[in-house]
This record gives sequence, structure tokens and C-alpha cells, in this order.
Amino acid sequence: MIIFKQASEITSYIDNQRLKGKKIGFVPTMGALHLGHLSLIQQCREKNEITVCSSFINPAQFNNPEDFQKYPITLENDIKLLEEEDCDILFIPSVEEIYPENFEKKHYELGYLEQVLEGKHRPGHFQGVCMVVERLLSIVRCDNLYLGKKDYQQCMVLSHLIQSLKINTQINLIDTIRENNGLAMSSRNQRLSDDEKNKALSIFKALTYIKNNIKAGDLKTLIDNAETILIENDFLIDYLEITDQKLNTLLDWDGKTPLVVLVAATINNIRLIDNMNIP
Ligand code: PAF
Repeated sequence: MIIFKQASEITSYIDNQRLKGKKIGFVPTMGALHLGHLSLIQQCREKNEITVCSSFINPAQFNNPEDFQKYPITLENDIKLLEEEDCDILFIPSVEEIYPENFEKKHYELGYLEQVLEGKHRPGHFQGVCMVVERLLSIVRCDNLYLGKKDYQQCMVLSHLIQSLKINTQINLIDTIRENNGLAMSSRNQRLSDDEKNKALSIFKALTYIKNNIKAGDLKTLIDNAETILIENDFLIDYLEITDQKLNTLLDWDGKTPLVVLVAATINNIRLIDNMNIP
């Protein structure tokens, strides 16, 4: 695996490979890799001749300074895992490399996508995500971009970004990987104690409870019961909502519209998110 730290160097390497007709796949990450990331790498390798992974903890997307400071860093292990997966290129830029002095910050028109759910609870978060992903895609010009469905709203925001900026890359959305007991893989899980990990299963339980018990009609009691599962396990809930696939909140269901249940909740200042599609 080749490791690049300089934007200009990785860009010229990749552009060269593209000139040779090689297909480039890209998996952007913030490091602290887990099986969810590795599944993105595997899918990327299947469809592309060159697999690029980036590892950059983007300060611009953290609205909570403590979350940023405590974000896990496991670079040595990440390199080992990526080598085991035969990843071709790892890009580990510094903050100055991504946001040089002459970098021009801009505002992204995301409409309602940044006014609901994660957007509402993490002001500025999606602006920071768009800023870094636009920059990364200008450095790593890829045919295919790989994103995990655990960040459902991020996938929607980035699809919107790529469409609106007419960036020539295809988005590939990859299913969430879960621990055997259902807990969605997340870098932030590394911060949980064993006890908190057990309690974190309540997120999967709450989502599954909704999936198994939903009926057409008013959804309030169902949501209240699912929230109780989280509260009994010491979670503070940011949101637990049932929406259509475009993230419009539904309080009443017609029994037919495909749904997504989305949750964000915090235990001991560690914020976890998850979602589940119905059907
Ligand atoms: O999902 C993430 O890890 C990050 O939001 C991303 C897409 C790498 C941008 O920093």
C-alpha cells in the first residue's frame, strides 16, 4: 500500500492511473477503522482497479469540541487492517493540506436536509462534511465513491452535493455492518465501556421493536415505547423518528410508504446514531 500525505502527490499519481484506463474507487474515512469500513474497502476492490482510502479527522464537521478531542485515533492498526484488505493507497493529510491558507470556505445549499435530524441537532455539521468531501474529491478524482448507510442522512447530503456540483463520480451505498448482537459498527463504539456497550444494544432493540410492531395509523405510542427502551438504558435521546425515505417525518403511517427509522442518542457523552429501513 502506498501512503500519501501531500495532496498534489496523490492527485498526480491517481490522474496518471486514470490516464492508463484504471478505475479508481474511493473510501473516505476519519480513521479508527472497523469492520464497517473494511466492508466498504472490500466492495470498492470488487469494482475498481485502484482502491483509495483517506483518513482525516475533519475538524470542520464537529459541532462539539469534546467529541472532536476524544475521537479515537488508531493509525497504526488502521494501516495494518488496510494492508490486510489489499487497499492500494492511503491518504493521510494534515489539516493544512486539506484547508490551506488560500482555501475558500463556501456555503452549501442543502435545504431541509440540514434542518432535520442530524442537521437540526448538529448545527454546521453537514456544511463541514460537504466542505471536506468536495475538497477530497478534488484531490482524489474517483470513478466510484463508497459510503456507509449507517450515516443515512450523510448519504443523502452527499448525493445532493455530487449531483448539484455535477461531480463525475458514482456513489455506492453500503449496508451497515453490525456486531453479532446488533450494535452497529462505529468508531465511537471504541469509547464505550463494556457496560455501556451492553446498554448500547438498546438502540438496535428500539429500532427492531418499531420494525416488528409498526401498524398503519398513529405512530406516537410506538415511538414512545421505543424511546422507553433507550431511556431505561441510560440514553439521552436527541431524536427517534420515523420518516419516509426522503427524511420527511411521519406521525401517521398509511401502511404502504417505505420507511426509515432514525435514532441519535447519547450515553456518557458518547453520541451514537443508527437507522433501519421498513420493510
Ligand atoms: O463518515 C465519515 O467518516 C465522514 O463524515 C467523512 C465522509 C469521511 C467526511 O469526513
